[in-house]
Amino acid sequence: MRTVSFDGSFAGWRRVARQLLEQDIAPHEISWQTEPLSNDLFATADAQPLETASSTIRAPRQLADLLNLAACYRHPQRWALLYRVLWRVVRGDQAAMLAGDEDGSELRRWAKAVRREIHHLHAFLRFKQRGEHAGNPHYVAWHEPAHDVLALAAPHFCNRMGNSSWLIATPEAAALWDGKTLTLEAPCPTGLEALAKQQRDDGERLWMAYYASTFNPARANPKVMTGHMPRRFWKDLPEGPLIPTLLSEARTGTQRTAQAKSVSEQTGKTVPVSAAEVLPVREQPSTLETCRRCPLWQRATQAVPGEGPLNARLFLIGEQPGDQEDLQGRPFMGPAGQVLDRAIREAGLQRESLYLTNAVKHFKWTPQGRRRKHVTPTVEIAPCRHWLENELDTIKPDVIVALGATALESLMHRKPGSLSEYMGRVTQWQGRWLIVTYHPSYVLRVPEEARQRQAQAALIAALVQARQLLEP
Ligand code: URA
Repeated sequence: MRTVSFDGSFAGWRRVARQLLEQDIAPHEISWQTEPLSNDLFATADAQPLETASSTIRAPRQLADLLNLAACYRHPQRWALLYRVLWRVVRGDQAAMLAGDEDGSELRRWAKAVRREIHHLHAFLRFKQRGEHAGNPHYVAWHEPAHDVLALAAPHFCNRMGNSSWLIATPEAAALWDGKTLTLEAPCPTGLEALAKQQRDDGERLWMAYYASTFNPARANPKVMTGHMPRRFWKDLPEGPLIPTLLSEARTGTQRTAQAKSVSEQTGKTVPVSAAEVLPVREQPSTLETCRRCPLWQRATQAVPGEGPLNARLFLIGEQPGDQEDLQGRPFMGPAGQVLDRAIREAGLQRESLYLTNAVKHFKWTPQGRRRKHVTPTVEIAPCRHWLENELDTIKPDVIVALGATALESLMHRKPGSLSEYMGRVTQWQGRWLIVTYHPSYVLRVPEEARQRQAQAALIAALVQARQLLEP
């Protein structure tokens, strides 16, 4: 067994490996030993062909790239594995670099982990401004990668930050960009480490305030979040210290709901008193944002009020906000909104001149994978009628268009039979014209293209009818 010593860089290993291959030294005869890292680590950044003019060694480009990546993987056997794969491939055993081979699969697994770590560095590095260099801002950042990826990852930031210079410090090395040249220092000079770790600046404080105010507890999914942004990076992110608190607040909110549900599901002795007697006297909420008339508010981002001019003569009622409406706080902003917008235009109307609202003001949904799936409102329609009636009293429209069965149920205080009974007819509702038509999401949902066109035409026809009722 011979001990082979080199400087610990990929370029150094490549030089030595080439000589060993030329002397036909088998992997099991070598023990690899590294000396402290030299600071020419950027020599590793470009995978170079293994052959030289004087060398007969040939290795595929793809292997050189894989070796270059895998060389950054921190593992006591990294140089031994790299040499074993190279040795086998050079001797004609191409399988050594394939995923089906034990060595090949290990090499690829390492390369993949390194690629991921490079992505982490690109995604989770946070520069802070620390003074100026040649009249331009100078930025610094601290990062703790799990593998030796700085040399491969740092060039990404060159020429991406205008004329600014920057420094990326890690526990092992530092990369410095002065606006023209990238240099790597290993180990990281102590002064640079301290500079990169220095406390927050105003930009970070602003970013933290923004992060906290836009964090949506209804959408927080700790598992997905930690999958994308491993916890080990939190401590170096300005928003990192906020995340545990924000997540735990989101979790306790969810747990409270879950506990309340399980209590209500417990069987118990029935006490024969009327509901009216046992109900505590509570003031009804006076604003839509504070509405607790049904439980939908607990899982919605916000209540979605109607919108439009207060003197609108045409009043359109949908069913309930969907995912997009719930996030944006405005009715008909998602796919159904686009169908409706098109129908409004084709009917010769303008969205801005109409009042658009929903029978139910909070989004009712159930989780489906990572999505929130719409659930048709039922018992929520009656309590929410309060808000619809308020809007009708305020706007006092001449014509109401009920888009679908939920809107009609809300107006009629009972479930309508079939929608087709009302379609295409102009009726009266409490002294106003009422037209009933399909909901725009029905147009999206209905199978067959012909039926879809028919439903869209019926929606447009209803809006044309409404427009004609308004004409002098
Ligand atoms: N569907 C509705 O009924 N209303 C909206 O606001 C969006 C989709």
